[in-house]
Amino acid sequence: MAKQDGIVVCPGSYDPVTNGHMDIITRTSKVFERVVVGVVDNPIRKEKTLFTAEERKAFIEAAAAELGNVEVMIFSNLLVEFARELGAKSIVKGLRAISDFEYEFEMAQLNRKLDPSIESIYMTASPDYSFLSSTGVKEMATFGGDVSDLVPASVAAAMADRLGDR
Ligand code: PNS
Repeated sequence: MAKQDGIVVCPGSYDPVTNGHMDIITRTSKVFERVVVGVVDNPIRKEKTLFTAEERKAFIEAAAAELGNVEVMIFSNLLVEFARELGAKSIVKGLRAISDFEYEFEMAQLNRKLDPSIESIYMTASPDYSFLSSTGVKEMATFGGDVSDLVPASVAAAMADRLGDR
């Protein structure tokens, strides 16, 4: 299949990136010519992040290195502004379950209001990852659960280090 021209943005907090995020990023990279993963510097909805934006970016860069058409950038402005600055036509996000729908529907409408020229596209999560969230992974790792099947290897090691200190 020929890839769609242009740039798309896959935004998120990615604190940390999970195999579910990587599944969406990988599938997006097969459909679009150039993918920019946008790491939110300081997500307002969330408590302090476990990893810095630079750390979160580095984890994704390592996990996406083989894809060839994925680059990772940190942003701290509005998502549609970030997308516009890049000349991106669309935002691609993953949708896991009905529980994601309400929040994502609101975000898509707000973003459309801010800039109707940028489309929000949702890719449904693979069944293997539809239960997976960064929050769940952090909770498991905090209590010593094995997360090695759920996150890239560098993330599992960093989580053991960071949460082991607590
Ligand atoms: O679910 P996430 O990973 O925390 O989502 C982060 C993000 C930026 C994709 C989400 O908050 C969103 O779609 N925000 C749109 C509103 C916006 O531009 N906020 C500024 C950055 S927080």
